Amino acid sequence: MSELTIRNIQWFPGHMTKTRRMIAANLSLVDAVVEILDARIPQSSRNPEMDQMVGNKPRLFLMNKADMADPAMTDKWIAHFRKQGIPALPVDCKSGKGVKNFTGAIEQLLSELLERRKNAGMVGAPVRLMIVGIPNVGKSSFINRMAQSKRAKVEDRPGVTRTKQWVKIGSNMELLDMPGVLWPKFDDQEVAKRLAFTGAINDDVVDIETLAMLLLEYLAKTYPETLTSRYKMTEFTEMGGVELLETMGRKRGMLISGGEVNTERAAITLIDEYRSGKLGRMTLESPEEHENG
Ligand code: G4P
Repeated sequence: MSELTIRNIQWFPGHMTKTRRMIAANLSLVDAVVEILDARIPQSSRNPEMDQMVGNKPRLFLMNKADMADPAMTDKWIAHFRKQGIPALPVDCKSGKGVKNFTGAIEQLLSELLERRKNAGMVGAPVRLMIVGIPNVGKSSFINRMAQSKRAKVEDRPGVTRTKQWVKIGSNMELLDMPGVLWPKFDDQEVAKRLAFTGAINDDVVDIETLAMLLLEYLAKTYPETLTSRYKMTEFTEMGGVELLETMGRKRGMLISGGEVNTERAAITLIDEYRSGKLGRMTLESPEEHENG
């Protein structure tokens, strides 16, 4: 099994502390927290401290990028989260698919509160929601979809100061777009691998060939039909990462002089094709792995 080394991942513990404090300070202003996850890596795309930070506040998971995830696995994850008492909604904020179900899901999540408000005559009091998620998970895409107008993209970059802002949605909803950076768990090898496959960890800090070998090992085990249909690979069950990458490159005719495979080119092609969805819809982790520790 190949090992992935992550170079120069920069930690900004001070920045994380600031974000953590900001979330804590604003929790009392909202009725619920909407945590956006990447449906391809629902667990690895979460900030590990989120459960603790959110406490008892009602929460909804938005499984974004569901268009790129395996639909059967997305259903499994939804069932898994439901068991934990957190409803999850699959969405594709790029095309807008599923986003129309958001308001209904929030009304259901907050049904008791809404009923109480109605009984107390508080009609029209806006529902306030905090939107959180790791960088690149689709927070801006979601808020823009809901706001139905393009707002300027502001990068979640350490050092770039942004103030929190409320975004009005329809007549009775307000979204609190939280600035600040919530990192995932880079220091866990399995998590880091998945984040690198999806591009959440920048390619500049990982070795692309190692990354491709790891992805091929995963695909050979979990989605073998992909390698057969896309790269016409056969009899690869016993192969390790190096052999898988060479076979894939050879099948694609990526050769250099002497008949050797250009493994760098093969690796770049594989990662590109995976990320652009050419290999099909896939999910890179299962709830069972997490249930079984
Ligand atoms: P952030 O605010 O959390 O940092 O994320 P942002 O919305 O900027 O989205 C990050 C990238 O993910 C964007 O791609 C965006 O288009 C893409 N994206 C967001 N939601 C979805 C989704 O549901 N499905 C798919 N397939 N992609 C999604 P980009 O390459 O950075 O920009 P661009 O392609 O939009 O130009």
